[in-house]
Amino acid sequence: MVIDACHEERADQRPRLPVRRAFTLGVAGLLTAAGVLTLAGTASAASTLGGAAAAKGRYFGAAVAANHLGEGQYAATLDTEFNAVTPENEMKWESVESSRNSFNFGAADQIVSHAQGKSMKIRGHTLVWHSQLPGWVGGLGATDLRSAMNNHITKVMQHYQGKIYAWDVVNEAFQDGGSGARRSSPFQDKLGDGFIEEAFRTARAADPNAKLCYNDYNTDGQNAKSNAVYAMVKDFKARGVPIDCVGFQSHFNSQSPVPGDYQQNLQRFADLGVDVQITELDIEGSGSAQADSYRRVTQACLAVSRCTGITVWGIPDKYSWRASGTPLLFDDNYGKKPAYDAVLAALGGGGDGGGGGGGGRSCTVSYAETQRWGDRFNGQVTVRAGSSAISGWTVTVTLRSAQTVSATWNGSPSWDSSGKVMTMKPNGNGNLGAGASTSFGFTVMANGDWSAPTIGSCTAS
Ligand code: G3I
Repeated sequence: MVIDACHEERADQRPRLPVRRAFTLGVAGLLTAAGVLTLAGTASAASTLGGAAAAKGRYFGAAVAANHLGEGQYAATLDTEFNAVTPENEMKWESVESSRNSFNFGAADQIVSHAQGKSMKIRGHTLVWHSQLPGWVGGLGATDLRSAMNNHITKVMQHYQGKIYAWDVVNEAFQDGGSGARRSSPFQDKLGDGFIEEAFRTARAADPNAKLCYNDYNTDGQNAKSNAVYAMVKDFKARGVPIDCVGFQSHFNSQSPVPGDYQQNLQRFADLGVDVQITELDIEGSGSAQADSYRRVTQACLAVSRCTGITVWGIPDKYSWRASGTPLLFDDNYGKKPAYDAVLAALGGGGDGGGGGGGGRSCTVSYAETQRWGDRFNGQVTVRAGSSAISGWTVTVTLRSAQTVSATWNGSPSWDSSGKVMTMKPNGNGNLGAGASTSFGFTVMANGDWSAPTIGSCTAS
């Protein structure tokens, strides 16, 4: 295949150091610079939550507890179904810095290394929170507290530099109820409203590549609390205070159901120029009612292009912080609940593997860096039809934040509003017989980041 057919190069940009790094994956996987993100049991397209989410350019994560990782079924379910993790308690202040300036990262490191071994995204939770805060912090005066807060943020973020996709920099700083006021905490009471801004500025300096999120609950629909968070984010964006994302915890039950304006609320935050993420999803209940609520949440995220992923707050019901409400996707024996099926279907997975065309149509992708020179490199994605012929395919390519694409060939690209996610469809090369393949290519301006872009899984039609 001639992959450079419509690619023009200037003489001074010709490849000097050809590099070929090839990865292949099942349809339900993601490619990263670190290699293949394998989502075990992914023989067919999007047969897992992570695989199906990846096909939509999203991640699907779970809160994980280090002390369960040794349980075979727990680890197997995590590794098979999810492509992102959030340590449930292990990165909180009381866990990592129970005595001033003495850090213990043991349990959190266990989760990070497990996740890295599976090329999963990691959300860091959480740096500044009024809860699970050791007593010594509350005893400090303002000057000492400021320096302890900044030291905590800096040391924790630097320990995990390069490993964390997004940090919940500040968690739950607003009160419930109608006032939209700040919650009382040592930080709020002694440092005043400015503590959030200071925490975000310190966080950006500590790890400039991590996404910085504000995370809260009961902000899932439009109400006084979410309006107050919205005003803060708007102000931060206007004044250049670094903030990249807002987390919506989304703990739901019959008293606090999925709000009717959930999607609109996510969208209005996204419209401020931040990513939005569903960070701690659980919905009490069972059967089809629970499944319907999970479906709505999933559909809402998919409908908002800047909703980058969903994390459920645990794996089996028995380990949930609300275990008696059976709020998760797996029962106590790791059986898939109707809610699981609803989420997978909403993500386009299951059945024909999410290929979208039915009739067993599926495709796989593999990626190779084919050339590297000067300030850029060429990437090539090979699309291969599964056991049935296909008449179309869609693959997303997500660039690293520094990267841009200067040329593409053998495909028809479209871009999302961030300019970082390219959706590639055929350009006359959509019809593939069973097992047949085609390739498209692109030139990436590295701007200092030579990592492979993330290649989403292939959707066939
Ligand atoms: O590990 C100890 C154990 O050694 C001890 O025997 C036992 C006795 O109570 O406690 C265990 O620690 C508990 C820990 O969870 C681990 O299970 C703590 O008591 C308990 O308070 C802690 O609860 C966590 C809670 O945050 C604390 O606020 C939940 O697991 C965790 O799911 C929950 O997560 C929060 C998010 O961080 C923020 N948003 C809300 C969400 C749900 O509350």
